Amino acid sequence: MTEPIIIVEDVHKSYLMGKEAVPALRGVSLEIQPGEFVCLMGPSGSGKTTLLNIVGGLDEASRGHVLIDGENIVSLNENKLATLRLHKMGFIFRTTIYWQISPRKKM
Ligand SMILES: Nc1ncnc2c1ncn2[C@@H]1O[C@H](COP(=O)(O)OP(=O)(O)OP(=O)(O)O)[C@@H](O)[C@H]1O
Ligand SMILES: [Mg+2]
Repeated sequence: MTEPIIIVEDVHKSYLMGKEAVPALRGVSLEIQPGEFVCLMGPSGSGKTTLLNIVGGLDEASRGHVLIDGENIVSLNENKLATLRLHKMGFIFRTTIYWQISPRKKM
């Protein structure tokens, strides 16, 4: 069997709001196989963006491990994360709404 391309192990994330830690993720674990197409669904505020930012190396987990292609990205510095994003990640942000661009600009 092939190795998962993404492994998320017991990831926690809290945001500091003043002096209070607000939990956004409480122990998320998942595995994604190469070529697998995955949708992350949940109500607003359930932590989808938080998880994607952590898996994409844009934000740090408070606890847990994230392995991309076998490499634990939690311990990587900013430069190594930037290299990882350059070579192994692709992002389409919600604000990048392709179909709102005129046909002339698409060409
Ligand atoms: N930068 C931040 N500072 C403080 N709290 C945050 C921050 N980002 C997210 N949160 C909180 O973390 C929780 C998860 O938010 P997140 O944006 O990940 O949810 P979501 O599932 O992507 O929601 P939506 O469907 O509305 O995009 C929410 O309680 C949110 O208020
Ligand atoms: Mg979101």
